[in-house]
Amino acid sequence: MDNLSVDHLTGIDNLTTNDIELIFKTADSFKEVINRPIKKVPSLRDITIANLFFENSTRTRLSFELAEKRLSADVVNFSAASSSVKKGETLIDTVNNILSMKVDMVVMRHPNPGAAKFLSERVDAKIVNAGDGTHEHPTQALLDAYSIRERLGKVSGKKVVIVGDILHSRVALSNIYCLQKLGAEVMVCGPTTLIPKYISELGVHVEHNLVAALDWCDVANMLRIQLERQEMKYFPSLREYSMQYGLTKDILDGLSKEIVVMHPGPINRGVEITSEVADSSQSIILNQVENGVAIRMAVIYLLASKIKRQ
Ligand code: CP
Repeated sequence: MDNLSVDHLTGIDNLTTNDIELIFKTADSFKEVINRPIKKVPSLRDITIANLFFENSTRTRLSFELAEKRLSADVVNFSAASSSVKKGETLIDTVNNILSMKVDMVVMRHPNPGAAKFLSERVDAKIVNAGDGTHEHPTQALLDAYSIRERLGKVSGKKVVIVGDILHSRVALSNIYCLQKLGAEVMVCGPTTLIPKYISELGVHVEHNLVAALDWCDVANMLRIQLERQEMKYFPSLREYSMQYGLTKDILDGLSKEIVVMHPGPINRGVEITSEVADSSQSIILNQVENGVAIRMAVIYLLASKIKRQ
């Protein structure tokens, strides 16, 4: 069987293009499984997975849990809000206590960049990063690229613009790494204050005018403004932001070609995207959510195949 080059999924940065293609090929099989009347395979009956969420989540958490259950793994869920983390326990102590209960894999969302890698170097379990602060969100980028491949036939040669709060976005960074590894051209678009200065060093185009960016691209990935990560004001008001960077049906209809519209969620309707666009036939937002389960099944399955079973 083909194998991943990594033992943990801490980011897209350290995956090879072959790894990404193997994840996609494996996800193709699992997508077929989750569309059957019986949406389950017995592959991971001997594996226990803990989902550790130190930050809020709807899609990622549910998607991982469904993926694990569709693979027949045993699943335990941990939420920081109701745990002993509030009593001063360290991350390593928390995780080692959970691992003492014979857990094989940890899926973790954490506010600190690098938390997943830190853990992968210190505990004896496979680690999957479900978002680490403003750093990476690898499974989101994998499901985004997989959804582009599904809609457009391939990722290589496509032009993708990521619009919005690039500065605070782990989705943007993981998408840039993933799309470039697959041969796409990437542009970022947003107000100067929300585009980090180092970004052009990653080989991406930078554009501050939304219509010019949309005219260039095949796919627009609209990001949310992450007010919860902003310690100062980066633009005058959400209304002002929406007037400059909000995607409306009028803007889409005025473009010379039909582009694909994506959003990782959660959507702020009427801010970065109108309801009319989000719910239009050009939007693949719900396809992204569906594909998330197949991609996460593939990642978990491939990492679990590296666990030494007795
Ligand atoms: N896309 C995403 O990460 O959504 P959640 O924050 O709801 O998990």
